[in-house]
Amino acid sequence: PEASSTTTWEPITLPTARRGGCPFDPPPELARLREERPLRRLSFPDGHLGWLVTSHALARTVMADPRFSARMELRHTPIHRPVAERLTSRPAPPGFFIAMDPPDHTHYRRLLTGQFTVRRMNQLHPWIERVVEEHLDAMEQAGPPVDLVEAFALPIPSLVICELLGVPYADRDDFQRHSSTMVRLDTGADEGMAAMAALTAYLRELAVRKRAEPTDDMLSGLAAHQELNEDELAGMALLLLVAGHETTANMIGLGTFALLQHPAQAEALRSDPALTDGAVEELMRYLTVIHNGTGRAALEDVELDGELIREGENVWVSLSAANRDPARFSDPDELDLGRAASGHLGFGHGVHQCLGQQLARIELRSALPALFRRFPTLRLAVPAEEVPTRTDMNIYGVHRLPVAW
Ligand code: HEM
Repeated sequence: PEASSTTTWEPITLPTARRGGCPFDPPPELARLREERPLRRLSFPDGHLGWLVTSHALARTVMADPRFSARMELRHTPIHRPVAERLTSRPAPPGFFIAMDPPDHTHYRRLLTGQFTVRRMNQLHPWIERVVEEHLDAMEQAGPPVDLVEAFALPIPSLVICELLGVPYADRDDFQRHSSTMVRLDTGADEGMAAMAALTAYLRELAVRKRAEPTDDMLSGLAAHQELNEDELAGMALLLLVAGHETTANMIGLGTFALLQHPAQAEALRSDPALTDGAVEELMRYLTVIHNGTGRAALEDVELDGELIREGENVWVSLSAANRDPARFSDPDELDLGRAASGHLGFGHGVHQCLGQQLARIELRSALPALFRRFPTLRLAVPAEEVPTRTDMNIYGVHRLPVAW
C-alpha cells in the first residue's frame, strides 16, 4: 500500500482507493494515518505541500478557526481533478459564498438564512411526504426490478430543490447533467467550465425573470434584495442547486444500499418510528458522502497539535476519517442506528456548516422509512459487488441501485 512504509514526516498523497468487500468503508489507510498522527504532511498535485487532518477533534478545530480560510483563490485540491485545478487559485464566482470568508460569506449567508425559515420548512414537509408517496406509488405500479436511483433517490431531492428555489423541474435534464459533470472527478477542465457557465447563464436568466415577476420561492425572495445583482443571484442559486440535490440523492441511494446490507437495522427502522431521527444522523456519519473532505488555507502561521502550519499552506480535512474516529465514536466502523451519532461532521462544522441541513434531514427522514414500509421485502436485484459505486465523483454514492421486492 502506498502509504504504509512512510514516516510521519514524509509527505503522502490523499488515499482515495476503497478496498475490500465493504463499499461503505473509507480507504483503510486513513485509519492508520489517524492512529499514527492525525495531522501530517500531504502533497497536492500542484506540487504544493500542505497538511492532512484525520481526527474528529482536529477536524472541528480547523473548521471552526477563522485563521483557516475557505477562499477559493487560496485553496488547492489534493485529488488530481482538472476542473478544480482550473477553478482554484482564482476568486469565487459572485455569490458563491461556500468559497468565501467573512465578512463576504456572512453577507450572502445571512440573506439566505432569511429564506430558510421554519415557516418555509414546515410548509415543505407535508409536500415532501406527498412527493415521496407518489414516487413509491409509481415504483409499485412499474413493478420490480427498478433502479432506485432513477425512480426515487434522485427525483425527490431534485424536485425539492426546484420547488424551493423556483427552478422549473421540466428543465431538470439539463441541470442534472451539468451539475453531475461539475462533481465528476474525471471531467476535463474545459468541459467542467462549460457546464458551470451553462448552468450559471440559465440561473441568471431565471433570476432576471423572478425579479420582474416574483413568485413564492427562494430565488424570488433573494431577487427582492436590490443590493444583489444578477450575477450574485446566479452564483447563490448555482451553489444551492448543486449542493442541494446530488448530496441528498446520494444519501438516499447509498443509505438504502447500506440498509439492505444490514437487514436487521432496516427492519428496526421500518418498525420503530422513534428511531428515524437518530438513524438519519448515523447514516450521515457512517456514509459521509462528501467522502474526500474539504479544504482550508492558513491565513497566517498557525500552531496546531504541536506543528507549525505556515501562512498559505492548505489543510485538507478528511470528513470520512473524522466520522470514523474511535476517540469520538465507539466501534466507528459499525453501522448502529441506535447510537448517538450527533456531533458527526457529515454536514461540516463552523461558519460553513451546511445551510441546507434541516431540509436534507426532512428529506431523509421522510424518504428512507417510507421506502422500507412500502416495500418490506425490498432487496437488491443484483449481487452487491455489481452495484456501481461512485468512486469517480466528488460526492460518494451509487450510480444505480437495482432493487426488487
Ligand atoms: C455546505 C454536506 C444538503 C446547501 C455543506 C458542507 C457540507 C455539506 C459538508 C460544508 C462544506 C465545507 O465546509 O467546505 C451536505 C450533505 C447534504 C447536504 C451531506 C445532504 C445529505 C444540502 C442541501 C442544501 C445544501 C439540501 C440546499 C438546499 C449547502 C450550502 C452550503 C453547504 C449553501 C455552504 C454553506 C456555507 O458556506 O456557509 N454541505 N449538504 N446542502 N450546503 Fe450542504
